Amino acid sequence: MQVKTAEFVMSNTRVDLCPEPTKPEYAFIGRSNVGKSSLINMITNHKNLAKTSGKPGKTQLINHFIINEEWYLVDLPGYGYAKASKKSRAQWDQFITRYMLERENLLYVFLLIDCRIPAQKIDLEFMEFLGTKGIPFIIVFTKMDKLSGSAFGKNIAAYKKTLLETWDELPIMVFSSATAAKGREEVLDIIEQTNTD
Ligand code: GTP
Ligand code: MG
Repeated sequence: MQVKTAEFVMSNTRVDLCPEPTKPEYAFIGRSNVGKSSLINMITNHKNLAKTSGKPGKTQLINHFIINEEWYLVDLPGYGYAKASKKSRAQWDQFITRYMLERENLLYVFLLIDCRIPAQKIDLEFMEFLGTKGIPFIIVFTKMDKLSGSAFGKNIAAYKKTLLETWDELPIMVFSSATAAKGREEVLDIIEQTNTD
């Protein structure tokens, strides 16, 4: 699929204030700093569409972008930021949970995982939540430019092994690097295949 146009639509924390749910939607989620906003920019070929930062906790709102005037990409705030206050964590929980459960046009969640670190409880719990609620998700391993091929292979194999302890089947996985522009076609192909409108 070609990305012809990519535009920012709006930011908010309330699912009832999001754009009318009349177009297919794909959301990017994962731990703070994992590279959600960077991946959105790489995929859309727009350097500064989604705001990125070296410091975790940059994205704080539900950000809607419209692609080719046909479907929405959504950049979400990350979870698991150690310095976040209890109050902001509780808020995150509340509005992200509501967004996931109530957003009727949400087709897929892209769950981003940093390929350098071993499986984290918080990510496994989030997958569990998605699975329990029947929300389809795809894992995107990020920052693969930061590892050598053999270290990368070893980490992915270990991750798969951990997943198979609780899941009967592995989810679809994409391997990406925003800096090396890897994984773009894979993500766009998945969106094209599932976007049957
Ligand atoms: P929050 O909005 O805080 O939840 O973070 P985020 O997940 O949106 O991460 P963001 O895209 O802002 O990236 C965080 C940092 O990681 C930035 O310094 C990026 O430049 C860097 N980064 C993101 N993706 C990659 C990648 O594929 N490779 C490398 N080397 N760095 C990356
Ligand atoms: Mg972000």
